[in-house]
Amino acid sequence: MNIDGKPYRTILPAADGESVEVIDQTRLPFAFELKRLATLDEAAIAIRTMIVRGAPLIGVTAAYGLALGLRRDASDAGIDHAVETLAATRPTAINLRWALDRVAAKLREVAVSERAAFAFAEAGRIAEEDVESCHAIGRHGAAILADLHKAKGYDKEEGRRLNVLTHCNAGWLATVDWGTALAPIYVAHEAGIPVHVYVDETRPRNQGAALTAFELNAHGVPHTVIADNAGGHLMQHGAIDVCIVGSDRTTASGDVCNKIGTYLKALAASDNRVPFYAALPFSTIDWTLTDGVAQIPIEERDGREVSHLTGRLADGGFATIEVVSPGSPVANPAFDVTPARLVTGIITERGVASANAEGLLSLYPERRPVA
Ligand code: MRU
Repeated sequence: MNIDGKPYRTILPAADGESVEVIDQTRLPFAFELKRLATLDEAAIAIRTMIVRGAPLIGVTAAYGLALGLRRDASDAGIDHAVETLAATRPTAINLRWALDRVAAKLREVAVSERAAFAFAEAGRIAEEDVESCHAIGRHGAAILADLHKAKGYDKEEGRRLNVLTHCNAGWLATVDWGTALAPIYVAHEAGIPVHVYVDETRPRNQGAALTAFELNAHGVPHTVIADNAGGHLMQHGAIDVCIVGSDRTTASGDVCNKIGTYLKALAASDNRVPFYAALPFSTIDWTLTDGVAQIPIEERDGREVSHLTGRLADGGFATIEVVSPGSPVANPAFDVTPARLVTGIITERGVASANAEGLLSLYPERRPVA
């Protein structure tokens, strides 16, 4: 998507053909900086410290990280070490494991001397497929937005905008391009459907306030940042027409795991009859799981993300401040699970599925267990 009219991607092979460049998301929204990843460890650190984040982008970065690791050691043991190192960086987003398994499985068939180059090319293919998937999600989701805009009669009111609420950042910064939850918004915006996005700030790391707001701003999509707790109130007053969120892992039964706080938005949406969609590519579906609350591992992150805030000062400098009473214990679960019963539909690259096993299997019949 565009920054000041110039198209960007979040990850690209560097000019040397041997490393990759990523946008350092820890510096956004106040500084736009690229960072070069040249080794397995640099890729692992980038994922762990959230220089790159968002389930699909983590997967692509891990695939490139595996390729970078193989430049040092392309033996079977080298593959295992790289996969273990990268898989341990973040436990919840299944795209990470999916991408590593895909590359590693193919590598065993490749001559040791050619493995690094093969893995680098395969990572590039995963990146391209992610762009295509996200664009398709955008087209399917935009059709929902267009229908809603019409069904509510907004097309008859000059300038009446469709209000979409989103949580965290599931935009192009969380993928390679387009995004998942934001892809329908970009496609609708480009098709001339007037959309306005309410952006949850998304404490504790503020991916909404920092990243979603940055990318919508840069692409020229009307939006308003709200405190996380404002969504329910806005829904009660008819200010939200539809919610769309991303996902880090969705079960075969349609339970949607996403950034902490998503579940509360789904509860509020259900109470106010606001449609609640999750947008995700096939690589986010964990076909081995059927009960998201019981089975999805939830990443517990450093309590400092809750107790401290970093931001820009009036003089342009940066500062980290403490916001919690000193000495109080802090907990920081990074994700939660929205049960399928609260999800209106799952927007995928193949179309929109009901949030249940049959709905997902109707889009992915190849996953139907053989009798
Ligand atoms: O901890 P993060 O920033 O990696 O979490 C990201 C989210 O929860 C996104 O909403 C989710 O990954 C969907 S990304 C397309």
